[in-house]
Amino acid sequence: MRITARAERIEPFYVMEVAKAAARIGREVANTDRPMIYLNIGEPDFTAPPLVQEAAIRAVRAGATQYTPATGLDLLRERISAWYASRFGVDVPARRIVITAGASAALQLACLALIEAGDEMLLPDPSYACNRHFVTAADGKPVLVPTTAAERFQLSAAKVEAAWGERTRGVLLASPSNPTGTSIAPGELRRIHEVVSRRGGITLVDEIYLGLSYDDNFGRTALAIDDQVISINSFSKYFNMTGWRLGWLVVPDSIVPAVERLAQNLFICASTVSQHAALACFEPESLAEYERRRAQFKARRDWFIPQLDALGLTVPVMPDGAFYAWADCTGFAGKLGIFGSWDFAFEAMNKAHVALTPGRDFGSAETSRFIRFSTASSMAHLEEAVARLRGWAEGSKAA
Ligand SMILES: Cc1ncc(COP(=O)(O)O)c(C=O)c1O
Repeated sequence: MRITARAERIEPFYVMEVAKAAARIGREVANTDRPMIYLNIGEPDFTAPPLVQEAAIRAVRAGATQYTPATGLDLLRERISAWYASRFGVDVPARRIVITAGASAALQLACLALIEAGDEMLLPDPSYACNRHFVTAADGKPVLVPTTAAERFQLSAAKVEAAWGERTRGVLLASPSNPTGTSIAPGELRRIHEVVSRRGGITLVDEIYLGLSYDDNFGRTALAIDDQVISINSFSKYFNMTGWRLGWLVVPDSIVPAVERLAQNLFICASTVSQHAALACFEPESLAEYERRRAQFKARRDWFIPQLDALGLTVPVMPDGAFYAWADCTGFAGKLGIFGSWDFAFEAMNKAHVALTPGRDFGSAETSRFIRFSTASSMAHLEEAVARLRGWAEGSKAA
């Protein structure tokens, strides 16, 4: 059967391919004294807190399982609006919030609403693979702009200005970013948005990790800049609800009807049970639990990154959010006679039983040097992973 050129243009999501290999090797070593430690997984090791679970059960028992409006339960949109006010001090009216099946559906809706065939979107290299594929799936063209550690692996206003071409439609940024955990400084983001607006373009910011920010210099929503900024968010990461498939996007008033039409036709609505459950995310007890978990993520980061640096897995920019470490593995790998982060990831799985994600998914600039660690794992696992990596390096030195 003939596959469309559009589908052919979407590359495999290598994170998933690596996860499959990790699971296979993991099964082989499951009953040894060194079972696989999975630091390749981009999802919290926590699950939804008790009130959220109970709300889901209540919704099922009460039969509250019919379709909701395409834009989501009004009450949930209001709770999210109130969260923007209390956590970020920003007024985001509920009418501009559209509930979606995860950030993934939000990105798809935004791209389908705003990108014409052939339009180019500027994204940083490295960046989350699927984001460029949402652009491609809308028949747009993602343009990856190489970034450096000095730029926190993010675009700057100067770079956006320099990269802007005749077909450029806008920017698709993520702050904090996957795979680097680094954010765009609020002042720089404002300047980027000014450059984009002057050209009549769109500023799309994926803020899925915004709740997991550890540094007051960052951790502010792009929605504070202007009501024309489009923000993508999700219950997956800060709210620990990956598999519940729930997220949202915030769009300017003028875009709401188009997004609503697309949502009606493409999805009908996001999961009703998940929406009822998510209402409980904003109860004081749940928010307190999320804050305790955020503190744990920060503690893991604070311990783990210096350990990686000491091993020679250099993290050039301290992540200020999310739960990733973007480490240059060339020094460590080179000493073991391994070249490139792809081979390094497979060797680490086989030799140290530590699963990692090679840079390949995230772009092409310097990604063969870099490896992504996920710190969304217990402290005990992180400690064991560091011990094994050290043992691997020392063992090969002795050999
Ligand atoms: C930057 C970024 N955007 C979007 C997503 C998709 O998230 P969701 O589970 O909300 O669809 C992810 C998932 O890892 C991500 O890292």
